[in-house]
Amino acid sequence: EQDDTRPPVIWLEFQSCSGDSEAFLRSSAPTAVQIILDTISLEYAEIVMAAAGHQAEEARHQAMEKYKGRYIAIVEGSIPTGKSGAYCTVAGQSAEEITRKVCGNALATIAVGTCATFGGLPAAAPNPTEARSVKEVVPNATVLNLPGCPVNAANLSAALVHFLTFGRLPAADRFGRPRFAYGKRIHDNCERRGHFDAGQYAETFGDYGHRQGWCLYKLGCKGPETWHNCPTVRYNDGLSWPVMAGHGCIGCSEPGFWDSMTPFYRR
Ligand code: SF4
Ligand code: F3S
Repeated sequence: EQDDTRPPVIWLEFQSCSGDSEAFLRSSAPTAVQIILDTISLEYAEIVMAAAGHQAEEARHQAMEKYKGRYIAIVEGSIPTGKSGAYCTVAGQSAEEITRKVCGNALATIAVGTCATFGGLPAAAPNPTEARSVKEVVPNATVLNLPGCPVNAANLSAALVHFLTFGRLPAADRFGRPRFAYGKRIHDNCERRGHFDAGQYAETFGDYGHRQGWCLYKLGCKGPETWHNCPTVRYNDGLSWPVMAGHGCIGCSEPGFWDSMTPFYRR
């Protein structure tokens, strides 16, 4: 029996690599199991549900009807609009049609990962499938954007808990990103910042400066232009993040980063 305090969630996946689902399933503070069983009521998510085919679609239709206007939609992946939606269909319906119906009747939508929030890799020039973000497909829907490649599961949990506690989505910036997670630049909290200020840079991968943990700016780091909480929250439950692992930030949470942040290895 449905526990009324847990909001029903419908998780859609379109043009994606499933990296956001993977990140979510591997989180451990809280675990995906805790969230799925205790915090939300996951009605539909292709990657974790036991049902398949017609049964799965039936579950989605039933949830949409039963909880109309009360469920949360989570969308992963971009939505192709070219060729009348033929590039991505589920059960004979185009991703665009499904997004309109599911997000259009949701209480709120959370777009996870850079593909759902800004189009991501599929939308990179020349964007052969005419991929769009969730907000572009349903401009009137209430959408919170959690970009990142992949989304940081800690930020998804925090957004869900905020929603459950306050009954509304957290305050967002002009790109629809919650300020609690995207309010500061990578560069402002980076542990290599002292080296940047001191003019100590790695010049090539594996050189003395690189091994000493010096700043990766000259190796192409886009931390100065990127807004995300990676240095403080980190990935894999606080274990590490790109710059800590010795690789510059590639700006994965910024709109159009595949076109605007490349080449990744040069300034
Ligand atoms: Fe800034 Fe990148 Fe250098 Fe860190 S490694 S201080 S984010 S330029
Ligand atoms: Fe992405 Fe840069 Fe963080 S590449 S994961 S925004 S450090």
